[in-house]
Amino acid sequence: MKLDFTYYNPTKIYFGKTALEHLPQELENYGKTVLLVYGKGSVKKSGLYDKIINILNQADKKTIELSGIKSNPTYLQMLEGARLVRENHVDLILAVGGGSVIDCAKGISLSAYCKGDPWERYWINFEEVDNQIVPVGSILTMAGTGSEMNGGSVITNEEKMLKNGRVYPPEVYPKFSILNPEYTYTVPKYQMASGIFDTMSHLMEQYFSGEDDNTTDYMIEGVLKSLIHSAYTALENPEDYEARSNIMWCATIGLNTVTGLSKEQDWEVHMIEHQVGAYTDCAHGAGLAVISVPYYQYIYRYGMDKFVRFAKNVWNLPVETMTKEEAALAGIDKLHEFIVKLGLPTTLREIGATEEMLASIANSTVQGGGYKYMTEEDILHVLKASF
Ligand code: NZQ
Ligand code: ZN
Repeated sequence: MKLDFTYYNPTKIYFGKTALEHLPQELENYGKTVLLVYGKGSVKKSGLYDKIINILNQADKKTIELSGIKSNPTYLQMLEGARLVRENHVDLILAVGGGSVIDCAKGISLSAYCKGDPWERYWINFEEVDNQIVPVGSILTMAGTGSEMNGGSVITNEEKMLKNGRVYPPEVYPKFSILNPEYTYTVPKYQMASGIFDTMSHLMEQYFSGEDDNTTDYMIEGVLKSLIHSAYTALENPEDYEARSNIMWCATIGLNTVTGLSKEQDWEVHMIEHQVGAYTDCAHGAGLAVISVPYYQYIYRYGMDKFVRFAKNVWNLPVETMTKEEAALAGIDKLHEFIVKLGLPTTLREIGATEEMLASIANSTVQGGGYKYMTEEDILHVLKASF
């Protein structure tokens, strides 16, 4: 743990089958008006919406609603939420859904009282947040992003064809998050697999960097093993509580910043995927699945020992019988096999990208990386290999 760090995570987690029972006591901490933010209908179908409305009514709250939040939430929807917050003097934003809904709620919270243009200030120039932040609480219905316990708010500006986000300060994190793994039973298989791979990618983005002997890397290997193990069971039997609960917790740990402590990090797969998402509107985890293997095949030589370690410690491959090169590539092959077993796509074509888009995606992707700095040319190479 050679790099200094400060760790502060203010989100209170209620986890398990009875987690929603804590909502009334949480609501007591906030004023009368609640903005309820949710997606395109899954919460109504599952009956969760009725339960929450009932609790809000019993708590004598005035509830304003913002529904129809899209996967890959848009800037316009976020601005609409910000307007509702200002006009109704909202005291708490309650997000019910997956990462898109929670990210949108955090964006609303940041933007409602922003002086100036929120997009330019907070999503492009990454300025310090200097305005009032409206508290957010979340009720998670889909595992993957970790948004329930972090400061991420990834928003798509459709007009500018940009999908951007950053980690905002702890004041923006949800104040509380309610995590009942049973809520994920109704998530369609493709979305579930996409969420699982999103978590996998978060862990790998943090793992594939640095060469020091870091406790965090051992933690990541453990979480990856649990995730892979539970993924197969959870997809085979959607109502396997143990598997679903493991996945939900892996997802939360995977991006509540604890698995990034004292580490340099990569995140270039995410940077590329966000722009793929801006052009194709694909499911985030599916986009990551497509890019990851070609990306790691492109950069593994720069972090060879770590890729060998990945093959050995995550996939239990007998690396002693192989050359380093063979071992590193065999680990990446296992990753490919996992993606295929999850039923996720492996080419950009399958998620709606066209060859003409590739240069624009490369040109608008934020450059960076872990073991290798990725230039626009490198990114284009990976995109072509993913096509
Ligand atoms: O809109 P509804 O009807 O609710 O349906 C959703 C949506 O269609 C559905 N769903 C969610 N829970 C369900 C359910 N369907 C049935 N039963 C349930 N219990 O699933 C679909 C996908 O939901 P979404 O929220 O879009 O998925 P996810 O959680 O993967 O979030 C993706 C967004 O999060 C961003 C991504 O870029 C993307 O915009 N990310 C946020 C991060 C963060 N805050 O730290 C980090 C990530 O890397 C990521 O970038
Ligand atoms: Zn992600």
